[in-house]
Amino acid sequence: MRILHFSDPHVQLRDWRTRSLRALGPLRALATAELWRSRGARYDRAEERLHDLAALSLEHDHAICTGDLTQLGTREEMQLARAALGALASDRERFTTLAGNHDRIPLALKPVHYFEELFPEQTVDGGGSDLGEFAPVRVRLLGPHGGAALVIVDSAIAMSWPILSRGEITRPALEALSRALAHPEVRARCALVVTHHSPMRAHGRLDWPVHYLQNTTNFLRVARAGGAQAVLAGHVHEQFDLPETPERPRVLCAGSATDAKRPTAYSLEILGRRLSNVQPIDLRARFHA
Ligand SMILES: [Fe+2]
Ligand SMILES: [Fe+2]
Repeated sequence: MRILHFSDPHVQLRDWRTRSLRALGPLRALATAELWRSRGARYDRAEERLHDLAALSLEHDHAICTGDLTQLGTREEMQLARAALGALASDRERFTTLAGNHDRIPLALKPVHYFEELFPEQTVDGGGSDLGEFAPVRVRLLGPHGGAALVIVDSAIAMSWPILSRGEITRPALEALSRALAHPEVRARCALVVTHHSPMRAHGRLDWPVHYLQNTTNFLRVARAGGAQAVLAGHVHEQFDLPETPERPRVLCAGSATDAKRPTAYSLEILGRRLSNVQPIDLRARFHA
């Protein structure tokens, strides 16, 4: 079984440069400061790159996008992201995703639910979990025994602020993760924990203080004790592959798949319940001109 793991496509408004800041609201207006600094230009083609990634996923049995589908977290961006994915967006058998912190920027100081609204297949209530009893954690069982089990843990807090982009593994999520990893259908497969916030930086130290994932140490300990072969994440826009240690499973951070500077992804191969091969992909060679 082959899985494409990519992250942080950050689809943005086509006309963000001329959009009224007042209409965007104060937090999104603040977030445009980051776009003007250079980020916006690097993601101008994110929408078409996401379309290319959907095509690349056809070379794999399943594709995983570990969050941050949008740039400013608007409903319109979420619609564009879904449209760019085409048929893949509604194909539960071939696609898994979850919200990132950019997808949860509040509006008028209230949480938004654009991800849940536009990607209902990726929610427990919408049938996005093959084992419903582990909510808020989702479980996807891919292939027969000997395939992969994705245990999907939401790390993006309900109201994520621009720039200060920390995440959290809540206590109920941690307990559900532990129980899900012990389920016989999960143990019969290669267990991969899927989340948005990478628990580590490229150098292998905890990500602190700006992007900090609260409860990281317990999260990694539970994942390791439960037999997870890797944690698949994004959020940090750098690609890295950290080996397992007695305290944590392997950590794969896919980097950002649509960043014009260095678009990256991973191709994972699963053989007999083991993650047998992890191949980094330089997407510059794979995207259409
Ligand atoms: Fe990101
Ligand atoms: Fe993020």
